[in-house]
Amino acid sequence: MIRTLADLPADPAGKRALVRVDYNVPLEADRVADATRVEATLPTLRWLLRHDARPVLLSHLGRPAGRPNPAFSLAPVAPVLAGLLGVEVDFAAPCDGAAALRASRGLAAGRVLLLENTRFLPGEAANDGALAGRLARLGDFFVNDAFGTLHRAHASTTGVPARLRPAAAGLLVERELAALDALRDPPRPFVVAFGGAKIGDKIDLMRGFLERADGILVGGAMANTFLRAQGVETGASLVEEAALELARSILAASPDRIRLPVDVTVTERPADPGGSVADVGVEAIGPGMAALDIGPASRARYAEEIRGCASLFWNGPMGRFEDPRFAAGTFAIAEAAAEITAAGAFSVVGGGDSAAAVRRAGLMDRVSHICTGGGAALEYLASGRLPGLDALAGA
Ligand code: 3PG
Repeated sequence: MIRTLADLPADPAGKRALVRVDYNVPLEADRVADATRVEATLPTLRWLLRHDARPVLLSHLGRPAGRPNPAFSLAPVAPVLAGLLGVEVDFAAPCDGAAALRASRGLAAGRVLLLENTRFLPGEAANDGALAGRLARLGDFFVNDAFGTLHRAHASTTGVPARLRPAAAGLLVERELAALDALRDPPRPFVVAFGGAKIGDKIDLMRGFLERADGILVGGAMANTFLRAQGVETGASLVEEAALELARSILAASPDRIRLPVDVTVTERPADPGGSVADVGVEAIGPGMAALDIGPASRARYAEEIRGCASLFWNGPMGRFEDPRFAAGTFAIAEAAAEITAAGAFSVVGGGDSAAAVRRAGLMDRVSHICTGGGAALEYLASGRLPGLDALAGA
C-alpha cells in the first residue's frame, strides 16, 4: 500500500516536507525553456503550503555525471517556481551540505527551499547510503512527486524513503498512475505507437507490450532499427546497431502485431534546413539517404489503425518533428489521437518529445492524459512496477 498526502498520519503543520520533484527541464542559456514539469508539481506544493508544511525540494537536472557543472544548475528554476507558485523560493547548494541543512531548519513558513542538483554528487546515481542519510536529515517526512524519475533507484528516490518516514506519493504521481492504471487492462483495441531516438532505453520495454497491445506502430529512429533488422538497406539513417538482435527477436515473437513504415521521408543533407527531401518506399532508401520521418502511405496506415482503437499509448515522435520537413508523421499521430479522444477513446501521451509535439500541434487539451515522464510511464506499463514506488510501499 502506498501512502498519499491525504493519508499522512500526523498533521504536517510546521514540519519540513522533503519533496523529490522532477525538475529535469530543458534550459536554453540559463533560462527554463519549458516549465511543464515545474507546473506539474504545483498541486502538491500548494497542498503542502495550505497545510502549513515547509517544502524542501530535491531534484536532478540532466546527466552531469556526479560532478558540479554550472550548465546543469537548478538555480534558474527557483525564480520560475516562485513566479508560478506566488511565494518566495530560497536556493541552497550543495544539496547535502551544512548550508542546505541550515536552510531547511531555518525555512520560514510560506516559503519553499529548492536545493541544488542531486546529480552533482556521485552518490546520487550510486544510491549511496551515506548520501541518502544526509539528504534524509533535510526533512521531517518525505514526499515523492517526481513521476518522471520513479524508474531510477537513486539516493534521492529510493535511498531517502528507506530512511525517512512517513513517506508518501505526491499528487502528480497519483494522477499519473491513475491514468496509466487505466491502460493496464485497456479498452480494446489497444494500440501503442513507439518512436523517438532513445532506442536502447525503450526497445527492451517494448516486449512488455507484445502480449497486451493489438497493434504496435513503430516510427522514428526505432523504425530504422527494425527495418535494418529485417535486412532493409537504411542508408545513412540512425540505427542502433546494438539493438538489432533484440529487434529481430521481437519481430520473430510477434510478427503480426508490429507495424513498420512502408515509406519514409529522406534527405541526403539532414543538417541543411534548405536541403531537398523525398518520400520513398523503404526498399528504395539509397546509401547516402537518412530517413527522418515516416512517409505519407505509412502516416495514412498508422492514422487509420489509431482511428480504429479504443485506447492508445504513444511514446516518442515519428520523426525529427522540430524540422517542419519531417514533422508530418508526428503530427498525423497527434491529430489521430485527438480525433479518437473526441470520439470517446482513451489516449495517453508519454515523454517529453511527444508531449512537445502535441503542444506544438495545439492539441494539449485534446488527448486524455500527457505524462511528464516517458521512461517511467513505459516501465510502469511494461512491468507494473517502479523502484521509486516500491520504496514508498508500506510507508
Ligand atoms: C527524464 O527526463 O526522463 C527523467 O527526468 C529521468 O532522467 P534520466 O533519464 O536522466 O534518468
